[in-house]
Amino acid sequence: MLTKTLIAGSTALTLTAGLAAAQTVGFSQIGSESGWRAAETTVTRQQAEERGIDLKFSDAQQKQENQIAALRSFIAQGVDAILVAPVVATGWDAVLEEAKEAEIPVVLLDRMVDSDKELYLTAVGSDLVEEGRVAGRWLVDEVAGAECRVVELQGTTGSSPAIDRKKGFEEGIAGADNIEIVRSQTGDFTRARGKEVMESFLQAENGGKDICALYAHNDDMAVGAIQAIKEAGLKPGTDIKVVSIDAVPDIFLAMAAGEANATVELTPNMAGPAFDALAAYWKDGTMPEKFIQTESKLYTQADDPQAVYEQRKDLGY
Ligand code: AHR
Repeated sequence: MLTKTLIAGSTALTLTAGLAAAQTVGFSQIGSESGWRAAETTVTRQQAEERGIDLKFSDAQQKQENQIAALRSFIAQGVDAILVAPVVATGWDAVLEEAKEAEIPVVLLDRMVDSDKELYLTAVGSDLVEEGRVAGRWLVDEVAGAECRVVELQGTTGSSPAIDRKKGFEEGIAGADNIEIVRSQTGDFTRARGKEVMESFLQAENGGKDICALYAHNDDMAVGAIQAIKEAGLKPGTDIKVVSIDAVPDIFLAMAAGEANATVELTPNMAGPAFDALAAYWKDGTMPEKFIQTESKLYTQADDPQAVYEQRKDLGY
């Protein structure tokens, strides 16, 4: 029988030597609003399977109340850890306190919360502000001093990537007086909303003729917007430059067709580093860094987008 031992002064649990046992981890996923999100789910399942972890998966359908209910259910079941990709940044204190009280470590995946850092074990994610800065700096170089009116498609309102990617982009273009964000609205990280909101931007901006560039907080919204630009009779990538974030296969297809210009990569493998941190914690109580940062890489037309598409199209993202 499995024996668990409390390490003095910490909430860590160790397994009695010689006994291998499957750990149970609850994963509260936001939903499947984007190709990137679906890929993160696939990779998390794969990573759990490779490590013999029993993953209990819960899809919140974009609702924070569903995520909070899922976390409470995981706590009631006495899981060994919880992974959560928090849909918005606020409103987590109570449930995180309940998890802490139950001595269940919580790891945040890809998005941050406003709660006290002591309420979760660690967070795995990218520097979301830097992603926006990279996109902004790319545009500054790309337009090389020419006047540029930018429209922005924001992610889900109140989510940390929407807040940080907006801030980062504004920092990236700061000082470039030739660049101005003329419209900015949420597209909720989805392709359908991205298209819809872009249609309204095009209408409001002289059929799109007054827009020089689109900055989208994710690739899915950019792909939807590209469709809207084409339907308005303009050439995305040429008449309106397109820069976005995620680096999913579909944006490389668009780049290969000359319809998108640049994307900043967000790896969908957040679970690998999360499970590594949990393994060390379960083993001997090793406390990970509070933030485990993944890399953000800029891809442009110079990176042979067709080849990148071919490489990753079968990887599930
Ligand atoms: O939190 C990461 C963001 O959430 C991704 O960029 C986006 O595609 C997703 O839905």
